[in-house]
Amino acid sequence: MDLGIKGKTALVLGASQGIGRAIAEALAEEGANVVLVARNGEALEGLAADIAGKHGVEATPCPVDLSDPLAVTAFCTRIENEFKPDMLVNNAGGPPPSPSTGVSDEVWHNSTQMMLFSIVRVTEAALPAMKARGWGRIVAVGSSGVVQPIPNLAVSNTIRGAVAGFLKTLSAEVAGNGITVNMVLPGKIETARLGRLDSARAEREGKSLEEVRAASQAELPIKRYGQPEEFAKVAVFLLSDAASYVTGQITRVDGGLIRSI
Ligand SMILES: NC(=O)c1ccc[n+]([C@@H]2O[C@H](COP(=O)([O-])OP(=O)(O)OC[C@H]3O[C@@H](n4cnc5c(N)ncnc54)[C@H](OP(=O)(O)O)[C@@H]3O)[C@@H](O)[C@H]2O)c1
Repeated sequence: MDLGIKGKTALVLGASQGIGRAIAEALAEEGANVVLVARNGEALEGLAADIAGKHGVEATPCPVDLSDPLAVTAFCTRIENEFKPDMLVNNAGGPPPSPSTGVSDEVWHNSTQMMLFSIVRVTEAALPAMKARGWGRIVAVGSSGVVQPIPNLAVSNTIRGAVAGFLKTLSAEVAGNGITVNMVLPGKIETARLGRLDSARAEREGKSLEEVRAASQAELPIKRYGQPEEFAKVAVFLLSDAASYVTGQITRVDGGLIRSI
């Protein structure tokens, strides 16, 4: 299948590692140019050189801290005037694990800034170029917690629900402009973040990391963690021309983790 994104430009947030990185690489494999965003500029430089060398596309490192409102404002100016993306991948880190109460103001504010407010502003900045072309694709990386709140991830569960509401509302507003907006929910994808969450659980429960990983994988119908590349393939399809009639949807890539229909 021709995905129809060769030569188009994708802005990929949270691109230095994990799920975002896998999406950036999969887009480049399809011939798309990529703008790579995260805080670690050195990692982005290395990744950009690697992607450009391997796939013969343009790969531009763009270090930004999405929890810093001033940095995001400057970044949005670059999006509107310089990057003018055809595709946008909304993604970043996740908040630290915690129950619903006792979370500091700092964690609530920083997490909301990074995961919601920045996403709103970046999306707004990306829309004019998409509207001008009559074609655009927005995919956000969410979490299974959008459908079934995850114990001890209260901040994530809360903010991601708000992001889902924003994206669903937006999807109807821009569908007539040839722009689709979708969310993809990871279940348990093997990345540094999943490693940190498993380590925290091991410490909480007084178990070894291996015990926690084994039990966690045994709970999944598919009996294993997912790989970032498996997640990326679904995201890239939704970012492609081939997915032209899919919008406002929430797609799970979770090996069957969520049991409800
Ligand atoms: N992996 C899973 O199974 C899973 C499950 C549910 C939800 N999720 C969510 O999916 C998203 C991606 O997960 P992942 O597993 O790929 O996480 P990850 O391995 O921790 O990668 C997160 C990426 O976001 C970047 N990032 C973090 N904070 C940032 C900030 N303030 N500004 C700009 N970039 C920032 C990181 O790069 P820098 O450190 O260089 O900034 C990195 O590139 C996260 O929101 C995570 O909570 C993941």
